Amino acid sequence: MRLVLLGAPGSGKGTQGAVLAAHFDIPHVSSGELLRGHVATGSELGRRVRTFLAHGELVPDDLVVDVVRDAIASAGDAGGHVLDGFPRTLAQAKCAFDLAAPTVAIADAVIYLDVPDDVARERLTGRAQTDRVDDAPAVIEQRLEVFHAETAPLLRFYEQSGLLVTVAAEKPVDVVTAAILDALTERQR
Ligand code: AP5
Repeated sequence: MRLVLLGAPGSGKGTQGAVLAAHFDIPHVSSGELLRGHVATGSELGRRVRTFLAHGELVPDDLVVDVVRDAIASAGDAGGHVLDGFPRTLAQAKCAFDLAAPTVAIADAVIYLDVPDDVARERLTGRAQTDRVDDAPAVIEQRLEVFHAETAPLLRFYEQSGLLVTVAAEKPVDVVTAAILDALTERQR
């Protein structure tokens, strides 16, 4: 099973990514986690991307692709992946086709976690973890703006590819998970 999770910051990509990865016994590949890992270890790449993350800006496509390439390849060996946060731009989506080779498709389905901005804002503002520098109110607004400008166009791209599954994600976590699993089962019929 190869899944891509698409959604605004706070839509629940990380939460559902972990649940779905456990459910299907496949790796959860989060571009944000990988990038934050580089920042935390102070790697050369971490130093180059730190400011983008802190300001809620997208990291340049070539750097992100470098970060996720190996993780996607290893996940392919493990039988699939839940990709969380990548692809995030049209350029990344086109690049993802090459990264997924030789399995050809990056995804059996692209799950769009659809939440109103107010719900996303409330979740991120109230998030208990304090180590996300990008959860400051002004940066949350910037992340939402970037999502609508840069990532939302992917919805049409994946709809036209026949891969898009839209799930109302403002409901409780287990209800959202059930809706995703139901939609995936429905697609396989
Ligand atoms: P990334 O790490 O991908 O963060 P994000 O998209 O901003 O999203 P979040 O992780 O904040 O939210 P989420 O949707 O995962 O929700 P979560 O499950 O955590 O990216 C961070 C940065 O890295 C970007 O800004 C960019 O700089 C860079 N980056 C990453 N990928 C990139 C790419 N491909 N290209 C370029 N740059 C890239 O949930 C949020 C909160 O809500 C939690 O507290 C959770 O407990 C709660 N919650 C979740 N679901 C529910 C629910 N159903 N009901 C109630 N609460 C819920």
